[in-house]
Amino acid sequence: MRIIRGIKGVKDIPPGQMPKWNVVEELAHHLAESYGFKEIRIPIFEQTDLYVRSIGGTTDIVEKEMYTFPDRDGSSLTLRPEGTAGVVRSFIEHNFTQDPTCKKLYYIGPMFRHERPQAGRFRQFHQFGVELIGTNSPFADVEVISLLWRYFSELQLPGLTLEINSLGEISDRQAYTENFIAFLKPKLKHLCGDCLRRVHTNPLRVLDCKIPQCQAATEDAPKLIDFLGQTSKEHFDHVLAGLDALSIPYSHNQRLVRGLDYYSMTTFEVSCSVLGAQNAIGAGGRYNGLFEVLGGKPTPAIGYAIGLERVLLALPESMVPSQKPWLFIASFGSSGSQVGLTLLDALRSVGIIADTDHNASNLKTLLRSADRLAAPYVLIIGDDEVSRNELILRNMKTKEQETIPLATATSILKGRL
Ligand code: HAM
Repeated sequence: MRIIRGIKGVKDIPPGQMPKWNVVEELAHHLAESYGFKEIRIPIFEQTDLYVRSIGGTTDIVEKEMYTFPDRDGSSLTLRPEGTAGVVRSFIEHNFTQDPTCKKLYYIGPMFRHERPQAGRFRQFHQFGVELIGTNSPFADVEVISLLWRYFSELQLPGLTLEINSLGEISDRQAYTENFIAFLKPKLKHLCGDCLRRVHTNPLRVLDCKIPQCQAATEDAPKLIDFLGQTSKEHFDHVLAGLDALSIPYSHNQRLVRGLDYYSMTTFEVSCSVLGAQNAIGAGGRYNGLFEVLGGKPTPAIGYAIGLERVLLALPESMVPSQKPWLFIASFGSSGSQVGLTLLDALRSVGIIADTDHNASNLKTLLRSADRLAAPYVLIIGDDEVSRNELILRNMKTKEQETIPLATATSILKGRL
């Protein structure tokens, strides 16, 4: 029979990688909770319209990257390409405004985008995201960025750069966009095909095109900062002052416009120099207009999402905990096997990690199996040991062996491991 293979860009996470995943996920839970965020689990798929309306019909995600399929009743469904839209939909639908514990939400889980797979870019990937809802205070922006920065710092990720910008309020952005289009008109011949299209659909995206000729064409573009109204300007200044107060290093990147339409005011992105082409490791911003777009009351909010596969790629080996000590039970012979079975259960009942190999039946194959599993300790129990009411504990690294009494083995081993 032909082997059925996994899907391109959709990775298995084998057991050997789980210790790393546990490190990054446990820290995400711990830090988010310590900042007062509560976990939310939103559905993996939603009505397509949710993403079209929130992310924007002319963005790359909606135009090219969504996994969209008809439900049996013909309605259109989409696998979530990101988490913010689902969180806001849930917040509006369940009227979380009434519940003060639902203003700071975080999520960890898979997202789906039909992108060209390459190192650090997958079709199913995982995000740790937070959303702080219901405040327009610049301190909220600082709090969210501080959580993002602390997360990366505690994981000791190397080569991080935080870039920040303000897109201003929607009216500021509109004024800027008109001016920017007028600036681009005489330069159209220098733009790449994608950017030529963007001029009509999503002009600000021309600013963060990575192609050198487009970057050169927009080098002298009008600056977004000059179009910020007083409110946006003051907000941005307060955010930067807050980051200075917390000693979070940043640079102001006037080209940072982000690829999702729901942003206004503060936007930010962290890149990691060890990641190569796909170096954006986390990003976010304010989305003060999104609630209305999704039929809710005007509600300011800000959040970010971090790509966990990219975090794993940058995670130093020293951050991965060494294997916890555990015991391999090498029991053989008729009474030895019987004692081995009850001992295995007794050890597990007091919290000791213990295992055996049911396919191995003599000492030689049992020890070979323990070696293959890299067991640090082996308990040897044959019929002879049972008749003497004792066990042999073997340290697989030093090869030292010691005899311990069977009756008190569980408590002795619990004290040691
Ligand atoms: P985003 O910039 O589209 O923002 O994605 C956030 C992060 O997810 C990226 O910086 C990257 O680390 C990771 N990521 C994105 N696409 C892929 C991929 N194909 N493979 C691997 N990693 C990927 C958002 O998703 C917004 N919802 C963030 C946000 C939350 N804004 C406000 N609240």
